[in-house]
Amino acid sequence: MNNASVTLGRRFEGQVALITGGGRGIGQEVAARLAAEGARLAIFDMNVAGAEETCVRVKKAGGEAMAYGVDVTSRDAVAAAVKSVVTDFGRIDVLINNAGIGWRIPFLEITDADWSKIIGTNLTGYFIVAQEVARSMVTSKKGRIVNVASINAHIGTDHQAAYAASKGGIVALTRVMAFELAPLGIYVNAISPGPIETELSAMNLSPATRRSREERIPQGRLGQPGELAAAIAFLASPDASYINGTVLVVDGGLISGGIREPK
Ligand SMILES: NC(=O)c1ccc[n+]([C@@H]2O[C@H](COP(=O)([O-])OP(=O)(O)OC[C@H]3O[C@@H](n4cnc5c(N)ncnc54)[C@H](O)[C@@H]3O)[C@@H](O)[C@H]2O)c1
Repeated sequence: MNNASVTLGRRFEGQVALITGGGRGIGQEVAARLAAEGARLAIFDMNVAGAEETCVRVKKAGGEAMAYGVDVTSRDAVAAAVKSVVTDFGRIDVLINNAGIGWRIPFLEITDADWSKIIGTNLTGYFIVAQEVARSMVTSKKGRIVNVASINAHIGTDHQAAYAASKGGIVALTRVMAFELAPLGIYVNAISPGPIETELSAMNLSPATRRSREERIPQGRLGQPGELAAAIAFLASPDASYINGTVLVVDGGLISGGIREPK
């Protein structure tokens, strides 16, 4: 069911990876995966306790990680924290842009504050972090960036207009970054998860919504954070050496779009 029994390689040996939103959920699982494959980690999260908990988990498994309390929507905070990472670790080889928020609101009820908060974190936050980190990657003329989008970038779902717009924006941003940054040795891809078992999805999926999602997913279940971490690690690794500007959908087949005949 998940990848717990897979023998891991050391594709990130000697590399430095920065993960935003690494304090819980998908980000924490990505941290565990990249560290297990040899990466040294900088964990950004506005929830410092969460980021520190991730570092404890990584260190217990023999890895190296440092926590940074950062709100990704603040240009000044991100710029200062990226500078600290370069001082602490020497450089940044990999960025996993993952810190995101979202909640369900009917379109007619979305306030300007809801819209600004969701777009500000998920789209502007990704832009700010990616720009600061890419500027630092230019010096070493290499880097890999993975932007975590969502299937909401590709299909319409109800009550998620702001979230879907932010994730669609991330996919568009990814393509332009890939195009512009490839000549500088920086490769950029996006990943679009379907529903993954985390606190965020638990908050957004009522039992009825969850059942209806599971019925529509050809694999018949939600994904596990470790399954997503494996796909993110692939895109960030040397195994993806000729993959650039693309979007990998990891959703158990959900957006394959099939309509089942009644049994
Ligand atoms: N869980 C899913 O089903 C699912 C599906 C598709 C896409 N995603 C995306 O995956 C990413 C991670 O989702 P998750 O389920 O692990 O979420 P989560 O809520 O469990 O974790 C998100 C982390 O980001 C941090 N964060 C939020 N805003 C921040 C900010 N302004 N600055 C710094 N840190 C901030 C939070 O403190 C938290 O630790 C998000 O971008 C989300 O949109 C999740």
